Formats: sequence, C-alpha cells, structure tokens
Amino acid sequence: MRRVAVIPGDGVGQEVMPQALRVLSRLDASRELRLDAFDFGADRWLRTGVGLPEGQVEAFRRDYAAILFGAVGDPRVPGQAHAREILLALRFGLDLYVNFRPCRLRHERLGLLKGRGPRDVDFVIFRENTQGFYTGGGRVEREGSADEVAVAEETHTRAGVERLVRAGFEWARAHGRRRVTLGDKSNAVPAHALWLRTFREVAREYPELEAKHLYVDALAMELVRRPEDFDVIVTTNLFGDILSDLGAALIGGPGLAPSANLNPASTPLFEPVHGSAPDLAGRGVVNPLAMLLTLALMLETLGYAEDARRVERAVDAAIAAGEVTVDLGGTLSTVQATDAVLRHLDVEG
Ligand code: IPM
Ligand code: MN
Repeated sequence: MRRVAVIPGDGVGQEVMPQALRVLSRLDASRELRLDAFDFGADRWLRTGVGLPEGQVEAFRRDYAAILFGAVGDPRVPGQAHAREILLALRFGLDLYVNFRPCRLRHERLGLLKGRGPRDVDFVIFRENTQGFYTGGGRVEREGSADEVAVAEETHTRAGVERLVRAGFEWARAHGRRRVTLGDKSNAVPAHALWLRTFREVAREYPELEAKHLYVDALAMELVRRPEDFDVIVTTNLFGDILSDLGAALIGGPGLAPSANLNPASTPLFEPVHGSAPDLAGRGVVNPLAMLLTLALMLETLGYAEDARRVERAVDAAIAAGEVTVDLGGTLSTVQATDAVLRHLDVEG
C-alpha cells in the first residue's frame, strides 16, 4: 500500500476534503492507497502552539507517496503564523520547487472574458515555490512607532531559478505547448536579472519553443486581454501567487483552480488554489470542484491517469449540466455538487 497524508486544515478545507475522499473511494486507485489523516491547522496550533510536530517533514518525505491538503488560514491566528509553519514549512521542507497551477476554462459559460472560450484560456503557471519573498528574510525596526521600518528580502539562487524554469520548458515540450513566458520585474528589481538571464540561457536548449519575456505588470494585463497567447508561464513565488489568483478568476473563480507542489525527488503536495474562506466556511455551500480537480492532479502524478481522467470527465459533465454550487450559478450545496459528480462518474464510466 502507498500512503497518502490527508490534511484538511482550516475553514472550507474541512468541508471540501471529505468530498474528495468520497470520490477517491469510488476509484481503482483507492485500493492501492492508504489514507492517514492529520489534524494540522489553526485549532491544533492554537491549542499546542505547534504547526508541524518535530520530524514530521522527514516522515512525510520518507514514508508517503503524496500529501492531499485542504486549506490553511484562520482569523484567530495573529498574522497567519500557522500558515507559514504548516504549508510553507511543507513546501520548503520537502523542497517542492514547482507550484504547478493550471488555468483551464472548462466551459464556455464560466468564462469571465468577453469573446474568449475554452480554447482561448488554457495556460499553466509554474510558480517558483521555495524562494523569493517567501524565504522570510528581513527585519522590522521600531515596530508600531512613527519611525517604523520594515524590510523584506527576496532570495533567488541560480540553481533554484534554473530548475523551475527548466521544469516549465520541459513540461511545454512534453505536452506539445508552444510558448513559455517569463514574468519578472527586472526593470525595477535588479535581482530579477538572474531570472531573465537564466530564462534566456535555458530557452536556447528548447529551440522549437517560443520563449517570451514580459515584465509581470504587463503580463497581468496581457493575460486578461489576450489569454490565448499563453501556454506556460514561469515566474517567482510571489508573482506566481498573484497571477494564479488572476488565472482562477479567468476560469470561473477560486472554486475551480487546482494546484500541485512538485519535486520529482520528494513527496508531492496537492492543494486547491483557494484558501480557507472563513466567511464561507461552515455553511456547506463551498464549491468542491477545485478540491476534486486537485485530487485528479494527485492521481495523475501518482500514475493513476485513467482515474484522473474519470474525475475530470465527471466534473466537466456536472458543470455542463449546471449541477454546481452557487458561485458557478447553480443552487447545489457542497455535498449535492459532489453527489452530481459521483453520478456522472458512474454514467461516464
Ligand atoms: C497559496 C496561498 C498561500 C501562499 C498562503 C496561504 C500562505 O495564498 O497557496 O496561494 O501565499 O502561497
Ligand atoms: Mn495564493
């Protein structure tokens, strides 16, 4: 049996995770996967002061095939310290350097952009996931005073940038995609010259692919104006965080955006792009589809491609039938929307 760590986390993570497990239980892969639940999140952090217990990252790396994650974020935790101690600690500790965030419009009806359909909005963000502004470097001086100074450092290493950029090019090549676009801010941030230089060097190894550089502000604008111009975007940790929310908006909202945190030599972690949505939590109305599509990404990565396709087909069928939650214009609850997916799973085979 292969072990999968299940971490529902906070807020709506607690509501969407059980739905993913219902779907998983109906798939062939479930016969080979042993699920272990972990209660890491705000409640435990508030109770014990601990995000992840000592040795947990190593145990995940050693004993687990994957981590399925819900969401982290809770208004009771000052500054969301536990998000860094849990989610970022896993990304960094497991060295999951690719945050793979596909943005595919799955149905005409869900699009945000006038005149743009599913064929136009279909790109993938390769967000660097172990460096940048997320390394936590910096300091705060004279906090709370009129002279307060807050300094944040971002760190980029050649090796760290190169492996992320290369992953983007490799994926484009393997998936028959033509364009790789770098988003940085090297016109204002000298450190980003490392990204541009590395990108240009790596691009030379992929002469059949079109490599394009845009400053990230222009990239954000072009994504909205001409999404069809993008196949693969490679970018820094922070810019990838921002662009992936923009991407989620283009495909129908946060209820539809999955992600995978990857390193072929480590234990991957899968999470929906949406957060814990405290304002929505506890009402049974959150959209489970981002979590279900995240499950599909996990299945695909673990080698259960047919199960992954089945989940995606069933999700698409539920969307096409309008059997969806309120955020997508439907009337169903979280559980009912999953029921619909399960029915299509049976029908579609
Ligand atoms: C995400 C989230 C996290 C991030 C937060 C919860 C720390 O926004 O996964 O996109 O900034 O990476
Ligand atoms: Mn985010």
